[in-house]
Amino acid sequence: MYGKNGLIMSAEIYYFSGTGNSLAVARDIARKMDGKLIPIASVVNSGPIITDTDVIGIVFPVHFSAINGVPGIVQKFARKLESTDSSYIFAVCTCGGWSGATIENLGKIIQLRGGKLSAGFTVKMPSNIEVVSLEEQQKIFHKWDEKLELIGEYIKVRNEGEFETMSLPVKILLAPFFFFYKFKIIRLLKKLSNSSDLPFEEVVPLTDRRFYTDEHCEGCGTCARVCPVNNIKIVEGRPEWQHHCEVCFACLNWCPNGAIHGKWMSEEVKYHHPEVGVSDMVSKASFKD
Ligand SMILES: Cc1cc2nc3c(=O)[nH]c(=O)nc-3n(C[C@H](O)[C@H](O)[C@H](O)COP(=O)(O)O)c2cc1C
Ligand code: SF4
Ligand code: SF4
Repeated sequence: MYGKNGLIMSAEIYYFSGTGNSLAVARDIARKMDGKLIPIASVVNSGPIITDTDVIGIVFPVHFSAINGVPGIVQKFARKLESTDSSYIFAVCTCGGWSGATIENLGKIIQLRGGKLSAGFTVKMPSNIEVVSLEEQQKIFHKWDEKLELIGEYIKVRNEGEFETMSLPVKILLAPFFFFYKFKIIRLLKKLSNSSDLPFEEVVPLTDRRFYTDEHCEGCGTCARVCPVNNIKIVEGRPEWQHHCEVCFACLNWCPNGAIHGKWMSEEVKYHHPEVGVSDMVSKASFKD
C-alpha cells in the first residue's frame, strides 16, 4: 500500500468476529490495503502486543452498546498494544444498527496506552441477535461495498478525525434510556451467570453457564471449531463450555442442527455472513486460555 508521500506502508488488520461480519469487513479492508489479517484471539493472550507496522486496523462487532460496546477481548487487546504512538490506528465496528459510543470508548483505551485512534467507523451489518430478511441483508451488503471504497480512500492517505460515534446532544437525549437499558442488561447477565456480586466484565465470560444442547446434537464439533476463543470442549460427544465466553454467539449460529440454546436469545436467529465459512473461522487456533 502507498501512503501520502508515495512511500510503501505496511498494514496489520486485527479482527474479532463471531458470525463472520467483522471478519468479512476486515478481509475486505486488508485486501484493499495489502494488509496482513490477524485474529485478535491469536495474540491477545501472549505478553504485550508490539508491532512496528505503519497502520493498525482494529475490526470487531459491537456488543452491548448501552454499556460500552467494545467486546472484552478487544478491550484486552487494546490495553496490550505497545508502541502505538508511531502507528496510524483506525477502527471499524460492525453492528446490527446502533453502535452508541463504541468507537469513542475504544479510543479512550488506546489513549490510555499513549496511542491515538485516528479514525473510527461504524458499519451496519445484518444483526446476529435478531432476524433480518435475506432481501434486507442484500441491501446492507450493498451499502458496505460503497462504504468500503470511502473508508479505503480515507485510510490510504492516513486522514484523521472521522469518528462515527454518538454526538453530545444525542448522548444527553438518550441518557435516561441508556441508564435504564444498561441496568436491565447487567441484571439479566448476572442472573444468567449465577453471579450477582461480580462486576460486569467478570459476569460476561460466565454467561455460557446457560448454554445447553438438545437431542439434535450429533457431536460434530463445529461449535468448538468456530468458537473464536476456544471456549468449548467436546466431551463424550457433547459441547462443554469453559466459562471464558465472549458472548459472540458463533456456537449458536453455526451449529448445523440448531441444537444449542441459551434461554436468553431469540431461537429464530440463524445467521452467519454468507461469504464466511467454518474454515475461515478456525484460524484462531493459537488462542491459549
Ligand atoms: C451479545 C451481543 C450483543 C450485541 N449488541 C449489539 C448492540 O448493542 N448494538 C447493535 O447494533 N448490535 C449488537 N449486536 C449485533 C452485532 O454487533 C452485529 O450483528 C455484528 O455485526 C456481529 O459481528 P460478527 O459477525 O463479526 O460477530 C450484538 C450481538 C451480540 C452477539
Ligand atoms: S455444532 Fe451442534 S451438533 Fe455439532 S457438536 Fe456442537 S452442538 Fe452438537
Ligand atoms: S462459547 Fe459460543 S458464544 Fe461463547 S465465545 Fe465461544 S462461540 Fe462465542
